Amino acid sequence: MNLRPKLRSPPAASLPHSTKPTPIKMPSKSLLRPTLVLASFLSLLAFYSFVLHTPPNNRSATSIDAALGNRNALSLHRADKVKIYMYDLPRRFTYGVIESYAAARGGEPVADDALLKYPGNQHSAEWYLFSDMNRPSEERIDSAVTRVTDPEEADLFYVPFFSSLSLVANPVRSAAANATSDKTVYSDEQTQEALMDWLEEQKYWKKNNGWDHVFICQDPNALYKVIDRVKNGVLLVSDFGRLARNQASLVKDVILPYSHRINTFKGDVGLDNRKSLLFFMGNRYRKEGGKIRDLLFQLLENEEGVIIKHGAQSRESRRAATQGMHTSKFCLHPAGDTPSACRLFDAIVSLCVPVIVSDYIELPFEDVIDYRKIAIFVDSTSATKPGHLVKLLRKLSPEKILKFQKELQKVKRYFEYEDPNGTVKEIWRQVSQKLPLIKLMSNRDQRIVLRDLAEPDCSCICSNQTGISTTL
Ligand SMILES: *[C@@H]1O[C@H](CO)[C@@H](O)[C@H](O)[C@H]1NC(C)=O
Ligand SMILES: *[C@@H]1O[C@H](CO)[C@@H](O)[C@H](O)[C@H]1NC(C)=O
Ligand SMILES: *[C@@H]1O[C@H](CO)[C@@H](O)[C@H](O)[C@H]1NC(C)=O
Repeated sequence: MNLRPKLRSPPAASLPHSTKPTPIKMPSKSLLRPTLVLASFLSLLAFYSFVLHTPPNNRSATSIDAALGNRNALSLHRADKVKIYMYDLPRRFTYGVIESYAAARGGEPVADDALLKYPGNQHSAEWYLFSDMNRPSEERIDSAVTRVTDPEEADLFYVPFFSSLSLVANPVRSAAANATSDKTVYSDEQTQEALMDWLEEQKYWKKNNGWDHVFICQDPNALYKVIDRVKNGVLLVSDFGRLARNQASLVKDVILPYSHRINTFKGDVGLDNRKSLLFFMGNRYRKEGGKIRDLLFQLLENEEGVIIKHGAQSRESRRAATQGMHTSKFCLHPAGDTPSACRLFDAIVSLCVPVIVSDYIELPFEDVIDYRKIAIFVDSTSATKPGHLVKLLRKLSPEKILKFQKELQKVKRYFEYEDPNGTVKEIWRQVSQKLPLIKLMSNRDQRIVLRDLAEPDCSCICSNQTGISTTL
């Protein structure tokens, strides 16, 4: 194993493994002693932190300096981290899905998987987590998990199937259906089944009945065909809308934010450039929650300072949404077809205070984020009373709005998948916190002989308990 980090500026007392002695310019005598002491201390520190962070096989440590610059790097020892093993799945479950997606849209085959581009969409957490696991460990500073290559060492097993992309790999059956009728058309259902057939043959799947496995199914319909076969695992979801109480819970699973689809607002807090009061862009009608949405629109459409735009996902509408969210004080988040949507996270990174009209919604990272500090919650009954909503928003003082904005600024990074100190890191942190429960459940599972499945199981706190409603 190559234990040699590439140091940008080697300290005077060279590292134990350093081979090339670098000529150093001798500083004046008075400076020499403290420099040497500091240098040897630093190199010791560097070596220490280096040993604790497993170096990748073929890439050199890019930034010991960064590791040293971060005090926390030393406090999170490799030994303390939760060890995660990412399955090397057959290609059809990862890059193969991207390829099928591209092929169904007329994409040309590419020679190298590295050239396959995961398409931008609000369910792309699966891509970010997969990429993160493939990153050298020293670039994953402060991550709560460390990747291990030996499954025997692992606490958790990550199954990186691109389940959300798989769901939409085939375009809506119409135009493309004819053209591809002679070829083998990609089937999400078959892929789900094949994944489970493969997984259920794996030694470590059988070992703990899947309790220590982590699945991502961010689209509410992802993995729908096999959800009962994976339900013991930690499910990374965006909400519990389509899951039964015996399949998912806040205790066992992790709520992920959607990836925002519009550009982050780069400016500072302030109201000078936010002339409009309230902004909303999206579809007027939705399968569920459609009534409230429609009523809201009727009420708000002609209010002064309220901008309502109709539009589906497109480059053009994203531009309009960016403009609207960056220049409004509040952004409306009505009940959609799923309780949460990327619109909410678009608003957060736009520093546009979200106004959430949804009686029941799951929100990510609620263990560390108090959403009442960054958003306004209005129950749907009050929101649909004529004049109520705008009156309430107009009443809020500029100071109050700025306070919301400052809080938004503070928590923005939790919704930035691209930020090394952002969403991905926080997802792994939450996943790692499941470990004690996972151990409990798998130990318990090993000894339980017979359970009356007709009776409700009291072993988990269910995701769909009522009585949780937040109002302003
Ligand atoms: C698909 O095939 C049907 C019948 O063969 C034809 O009527 C229809 O126009 C075709 N659609 C497309 C998009 O080519
Ligand atoms: C919770 O889930 C159970 C079983 O899936 C269902 O019978 C019940 O109606 C659900 N309750 C709510 C409030 O959705
Ligand atoms: C991550 O963000 C938090 C909060 O903003 C900050 O305290 C911490 O130093 C950051 N860590 C890194 C590695 O940048």
